[in-house]
Amino acid sequence: MTFKEQILQGIPSELPAKRDYPEGINRAPGRKDILSVEEKQLAVRNALRYFPKQWHELLSVEFARELKDFGRIYMYRFKPEYKMYARAISDYPAQSAQAAAIMMMIQNNLNPEVAQHPEELITYGGNGAVFQNWAQYLLSMQYLATMTDEQTLNMYSGHPMGLFPSSKESPRVIVTNGLMIPNHSSPDDWEKYNALGVTQYGQMTAGSFMYIGPQGIVHGTTITLMNAFRKILKKEETPEGKIFLTSGLGGMSGAQPKAGNIAACISITAEVNEKAAKKRYEQGWVDVLIENPDELVARVKQAKENSEVVSIAYIGNVVDVWERFYEEDIFIHLGSDQTSLHIPWTGGYYPAGISYEESNSLIKENPELFKEKVQESLRRHAAAINKHTAKGTYFFDYGNAFLLEASRAGADVMAENNIDFRYPSYVQDILGPMCFDYGFGPFRWVCASGRAEDLDQTDQIAMEVLQDVMKNSPKEIQLQMKDNITWIANAKKNKMVVGSQARILYADAEGRVKIAKAFNDAIAAGKIGPVVLGRDHHDVSGTDSPYRETSNIYDGSKFTADMAIQNVIGDSFRGATWVSIHNGGGVGWGEVINGGFGMLLDGTAEAEARLKKMLFFDVNNGIARRSWARNEEALFAVKREMERTPDLKVTLPNLVKDELLKNLF
Ligand SMILES: NC(=O)c1ccc[n+]([C@@H]2O[C@H](COP(=O)([O-])OP(=O)(O)OC[C@H]3O[C@@H](n4cnc5c(N)ncnc54)[C@H](O)[C@@H]3O)[C@@H](O)[C@H]2O)c1
Repeated sequence: MTFKEQILQGIPSELPAKRDYPEGINRAPGRKDILSVEEKQLAVRNALRYFPKQWHELLSVEFARELKDFGRIYMYRFKPEYKMYARAISDYPAQSAQAAAIMMMIQNNLNPEVAQHPEELITYGGNGAVFQNWAQYLLSMQYLATMTDEQTLNMYSGHPMGLFPSSKESPRVIVTNGLMIPNHSSPDDWEKYNALGVTQYGQMTAGSFMYIGPQGIVHGTTITLMNAFRKILKKEETPEGKIFLTSGLGGMSGAQPKAGNIAACISITAEVNEKAAKKRYEQGWVDVLIENPDELVARVKQAKENSEVVSIAYIGNVVDVWERFYEEDIFIHLGSDQTSLHIPWTGGYYPAGISYEESNSLIKENPELFKEKVQESLRRHAAAINKHTAKGTYFFDYGNAFLLEASRAGADVMAENNIDFRYPSYVQDILGPMCFDYGFGPFRWVCASGRAEDLDQTDQIAMEVLQDVMKNSPKEIQLQMKDNITWIANAKKNKMVVGSQARILYADAEGRVKIAKAFNDAIAAGKIGPVVLGRDHHDVSGTDSPYRETSNIYDGSKFTADMAIQNVIGDSFRGATWVSIHNGGGVGWGEVINGGFGMLLDGTAEAEARLKKMLFFDVNNGIARRSWARNEEALFAVKREMERTPDLKVTLPNLVKDELLKNLF
């Protein structure tokens, strides 16, 4: 059977042969055994509803086995035989080019070069699923291949509920992931309802098919570092020869040394797992690998003396580095941490004072003692950081729950009011006010022809558009414009493409609309093939997340999720090709509501009208909410936008004098 025939058949009419699990594949961790016997029966009953009755006897035993062994039913037998990767949009069987674009993005998110646990349909973050099982994949691809531009596919947490009549202007797909009745949104609810096969954790871009590999994280980390340096350096100073100390060379954290090099500083990243450190070194993501602390000190002093731009990986515990650098009087300009403290007791954070191997055996054999060791280490960790910050180091939390867990461990990290932390998070101090409030966020695109030349052309087009926009940019955003032009100018050189021909570029509403319009013109002129637009959910408007994206909202509304819901509804009727809204994402199930979109540009006038309406709203909705929360930068941005766009009328806050409130209660 050809690739197209396999897609069109959906669930095969003949039972496929049982497959062995392929060698050398990174497998999803076994999930919690949380279901009662009755619930396990329900999970198997739920799984079998995808298949004809005559297969039930055989499959029931197989699915029960999967549930027992892995805590989930993935339906491995039904994984298709063809290679999984983003093909050119024209290679998909389709009646709708928009639907073909979605198929391409789905396959990219399941490509083993891109996905973390491809056999379990997990793209990243350990649990960021595209689908819950292979039956959902097969059915969804079949629906997409047969649907017209007058139908919409509704997807409930990976399950394709079906095609419904709609219109050309409607989205082709509506994705919801992990949405729960609010009182049923604890981490164990995810374990239970995911095991039952009725919900999934879409993370941010996995469940919306918009993950494009590591370049997204590299760009975000670079922007964060550049702006952090800007906060602390004098105008005439550059990051060269200045030190950034951090930890973690894992999934996302591994981007830090590469970003350090692009931001042009000296970065030192401690990593306890020798394998993780060596992998990043071999991939060329870090320049120097050092195992000996004396050697580290000598190399860092040398780098400082020569004002080098270099990234150093230290195989060892980050706490030891903070302490040793203090003894050696090495001044750290910027400090952060990217251990996985959102999962502190299961190997997210390795305590100082015991070896990596010892920690791993303690996790299994004496979890209580391991927990004590982690908390003791966090107290030491924070004490060492405090000594450096007393000398002028700027430390920020990198959204990894470092300050939260350190405070729970009794470390000295609280501010004087005993409510706030004494250090800011990267969104509170850097990304929030310097990017999101002005509308700058991780805009991205994928060349649907699959041609590298198209990506080169789009890089060039985007750069020229931004250079042009910058000519009239107000001084408040000139630096952002400059950073993004530098990024796109060097994007190809940084060799970040994995999987589809994709690019990320921070841009504000004006930049996004103008770049998209220029792409659409180039498609119409036959210079490039169609382009899919999208963005990370870690953005201005799509995500309500009180500990991350909306942590710099101070009017009390950061625990509401109206903005994210308004955004997804607003995008859906302004021309998005698909929209998604999720519970979960980076900071955990129940802690965030996040959404995104995808949009196919095909060079038509209709596409131009859609991109203008939708991208404008997709950014300005969030700026409006941020300005209502009295954020100065957002107030500036929204007033500027209202001057340019007479149809935009946003309610502005009246500011109140502090003294007025002091004696009221
Ligand atoms: N990069 C970003 O933009 C970003 C944004 C928000 C949040 N985060 C957070 O950063 C954290 C890391 O993400 P990840 O995907 O890299 O996780 P990961 O688990 O793949 O990597 C973390 C690494 O830290 C190492 N480590 C743990 N304890 C250590 C210690 N004491 N000293 C030195 N190394 C130690 C681990 O061995 C591991 O390799 C997560 O909590 C994530 O949510 C990252």
